Amino acid sequence: MIVITGASGQLGQHVIAELLKKTAASNIVAAVRNVAKARHLAALGVQVREADYGRPETLDSAFRGAEKILLISSSEVGQRVPQHRNVIDAAKRAGVKLIAYTSVLRADTSVLGLADEHRATEADIRASGLPYTLLRNGWYLENYAEHLEPVLAHGAVLGAAGEGRISAAARADYAAAAVAVLTMRTAPEAVYELAGAASFTLAELAAEVARQSGKEIVYNDMPQAQYKAVLLEIGVPESMAQLLSDSDAGAKQGALEGSGAALRALIGRPTATLAAALQAALKN
Ligand SMILES: NC(=O)c1ccc[n+]([C@@H]2O[C@H](COP(=O)([O-])OP(=O)(O)OC[C@H]3O[C@@H](n4cnc5c(N)ncnc54)[C@H](OP(=O)(O)O)[C@@H]3O)[C@@H](O)[C@H]2O)c1
Repeated sequence: MIVITGASGQLGQHVIAELLKKTAASNIVAAVRNVAKARHLAALGVQVREADYGRPETLDSAFRGAEKILLISSSEVGQRVPQHRNVIDAAKRAGVKLIAYTSVLRADTSVLGLADEHRATEADIRASGLPYTLLRNGWYLENYAEHLEPVLAHGAVLGAAGEGRISAAARADYAAAAVAVLTMRTAPEAVYELAGAASFTLAELAAEVARQSGKEIVYNDMPQAQYKAVLLEIGVPESMAQLLSDSDAGAKQGALEGSGAALRALIGRPTATLAAALQAALKN
């Protein structure tokens, strides 16, 4: 039995879809905090079980019979270390043969503020003694492709990433990599650094949006503090403004640039390109 936590999220849905191509639905558990959000998965024959990272009592029953678990990192930034620890402890009690975890690119050395929680979880996983694989995912292409409305409305991409290159890949690519690891016949590696093959700067992102939309789009680069202030001004909550501006500052130092080789090798196809992701988004 393969258990996917956070299965109702965007990455989780891609993982379940990909897993369904490789194994019987009855062999898959979608572990979700809100079972109502996973009714469509139950209709496909996937076992849907309640699993709230913050409520350890739900995790033992969710992981019953689990051979492998994919821990999809929580979206509750700031709460993630104890939440993930609950999952790791329950995985240990269940005696799983593999725990895979969606971490961040080069978590061990990353300057990104959000890497702190991933580093702590990686340490907890190592300390658990369970066989593990760290899927150190780079940025999603969707972080840009799904947020084009303000860019098109104002003719500008705003950011603080300077000339930093971002090796983003699609959620579907990272999901396929997770499934490749979960269904490998031999033991997977302990750490995969996963990123898209083609990298871009935010100026190149703006140029590509301009090319595809036929509109004039510029990249407006600014210092991190100014970018954060702009985000706050347009109503982005403080924690998210901090995370986004800090991530751009990290990108400026190369924290989101990586090799696409490992991801490509795991999924057996080229990773999605920025051009393709923007094209799909602009069609909608
Ligand atoms: N690489 C990147 O660019 C990038 C960008 C954003 C996030 N991330 C990280 O990657 C993860 C997966 O990405 P995503 O796009 O799938 O994010 P997402 O769509 O926000 O999904 C997050 C998942 O975490 C679940 N979750 C949150 N708190 C939980 C809790 N207390 N107990 C159980 N489940 C909980 C959510 O459950 P519900 O469905 O009930 O809300 C959801 O299924 C994120 O959570 C975040 O850690 C990476």
